[in-house]
Amino acid sequence: MNFNLAIPVGTTLDRFIMRKQEAFPFATGELSQLLRDIALAGKIVNREINRAGLLDVTGAYGQQNVQGEDQQKLDVIANIRFIRALRNGGEVCTIISEEEDEVIQTGNKKGKYIVAIDPLDGSSNIDVNVSIGTIFSIYRRKSETGSDGTMEDCLQNGTQQVAAGYVIYGSSTMLVYTTGHGVNGFTYDPSLGEFFLSHPDIKTPANGNVYSCNEGSVNSFPESIKQYLNYCKENNYSARYIGSLVADFHRNLLKGGVYIYPSTSKAPNGKLRLMYECNALAYIVEQAGGKATNGIQRIMEIEPTELHQRCPLIIGSPEMVDKVEEFIKSEV
Ligand code: AHG
Ligand code: MN
Ligand code: MN
Ligand code: MN
Repeated sequence: MNFNLAIPVGTTLDRFIMRKQEAFPFATGELSQLLRDIALAGKIVNREINRAGLLDVTGAYGQQNVQGEDQQKLDVIANIRFIRALRNGGEVCTIISEEEDEVIQTGNKKGKYIVAIDPLDGSSNIDVNVSIGTIFSIYRRKSETGSDGTMEDCLQNGTQQVAAGYVIYGSSTMLVYTTGHGVNGFTYDPSLGEFFLSHPDIKTPANGNVYSCNEGSVNSFPESIKQYLNYCKENNYSARYIGSLVADFHRNLLKGGVYIYPSTSKAPNGKLRLMYECNALAYIVEQAGGKATNGIQRIMEIEPTELHQRCPLIIGSPEMVDKVEEFIKSEV
């Protein structure tokens, strides 16, 4: 089967999805439709974000989410938009979201897919016009269709993902995704309302000289991470930390680098969520030739036990991730 059809730069996302589907004669097209639904919700959220300063949608919503975070208005809006698009699309039976305590049953009992979503990533950056994003993972349900999705359907490990991606609302808006045959990036042209293939078959550099972590918390990092950060300084690496995982990840994916969110004394399992953030980016980085680990285990092989579980994340260029792991191993 030819998964690497040469699809030219400038092809629209819709056409790209259609061409890819042609390589699978028995595919029903449901996953393709689901990806289109996500792209549509991404366009809607992009519009809300672009106008945020003009509408009354900046600032706090006034409630905390299950993560113990103060929700921003746009966290809530993005969550509603994505859930609505997935419900209307019909391919998804169950959604899990960073912003929702419990699973969301869409009512589409015939839907074959489960979606895990971080509707708005980097929400502390909304009000200051800095890049933010949306992260998603798609799984095939394990239970028979005809009923709601189960907790077992939702708690699959990352190796079970059938697709994953993110939208970055940045200096331009992009959709980057994988279905397990490489990673492709599409840039949004707002004047046409379309995503166009701009970054075909993304491969991350094997090595780099950028490290991304919140060094303000260094005093509560494990000794091995402190030592690795010293190593970065001894080697004159550049520090780059936006504070939006999607944006930090995207830069490192294209330019080379490593992103680290370790365990801290305040957050012994790190801060980032396995189901909404880590698994999707791990799948993408591996498809681009990179690596993702919690320091001792490949992210995608962690067996989830709860929806909102957190894990330390070290992700990026393979040689840099290996180096961090060396420091971790030498500590134990
Ligand atoms: P979210 O906005 O979805 O809750 O995610 C915030 C995450 C992630 O985007 C970012 O990398 C990290 O929090 C930043 O945390 P610190 O402020 O602790 O560095
Ligand atoms: Mn949050
Ligand atoms: Mn996030
Ligand atoms: Mn979020």
